[in-house]
Amino acid sequence: MKELYLIAAMTEKRVIGADGKIPWHIPQELGLFKKLTTGNIIVMGRKTYESIGRPLPDRETIVISSGNIEGVTTYRTILDAVRAGERSDKKLFFIGGADIYNLTVNIVSHMYISWVKGKYEGDTYFPEIDFLQWREAEKTYFDNFTMVHYTRPQSSSYSLM
Ligand SMILES: NC(=O)c1ccc[n+]([C@@H]2O[C@H](COP(=O)([O-])OP(=O)(O)OC[C@H]3O[C@@H](n4cnc5c(N)ncnc54)[C@H](OP(=O)(O)O)[C@@H]3O)[C@@H](O)[C@H]2O)c1
Repeated sequence: MKELYLIAAMTEKRVIGADGKIPWHIPQELGLFKKLTTGNIIVMGRKTYESIGRPLPDRETIVISSGNIEGVTTYRTILDAVRAGERSDKKLFFIGGADIYNLTVNIVSHMYISWVKGKYEGDTYFPEIDFLQWREAEKTYFDNFTMVHYTRPQSSSYSLM
């Protein structure tokens, strides 16, 4: 069973998005996202893909959608994406948005969360989860955010998907 990853940036109130976009611009945080995901597989919801507007360079992009999107690999279910990950030796990162986090937060064993400082308003939230079930493997402080790498044993529910 392959280990799965999730990466997100959120405020302490779990805000991840506003009006289809990310409500902050923190280049250093984007740099970390790029460093972690480059060379790997990124899986996102159709709305997140539309907000980015193109496949990100040097990464294999998978979009989850009930429709077909030109120019990018599209799967109808998370399980299809996980199977594609199993066939690859690359890491697979779920990169949002809220729909995708809701569907995957229970099957990943690594989460990279950037806790963004500031009171940003939003309309899209990371799911409410019990962080006590996660171990802080690494924590790095930056001016505008703190990046925490959380780990836990691979969830057995993954094999039941
Ligand atoms: N802060 C962060 O780290 C971060 C990261 C990523 C995104 N965001 C933000 O999050 C917001 C977007 O999140 P969102 O939750 O609205 O949208 P989303 O998760 O990006 O995409 C939702 C779409 O994914 C497809 N989908 C979801 N579940 C599906 C399923 N079970 N089967 C088939 N298709 C499925 C559907 O596409 P179809 O309608 O085409 O079927 C659905 O409309 C934006 O504001 C974005 O900027 C923030």
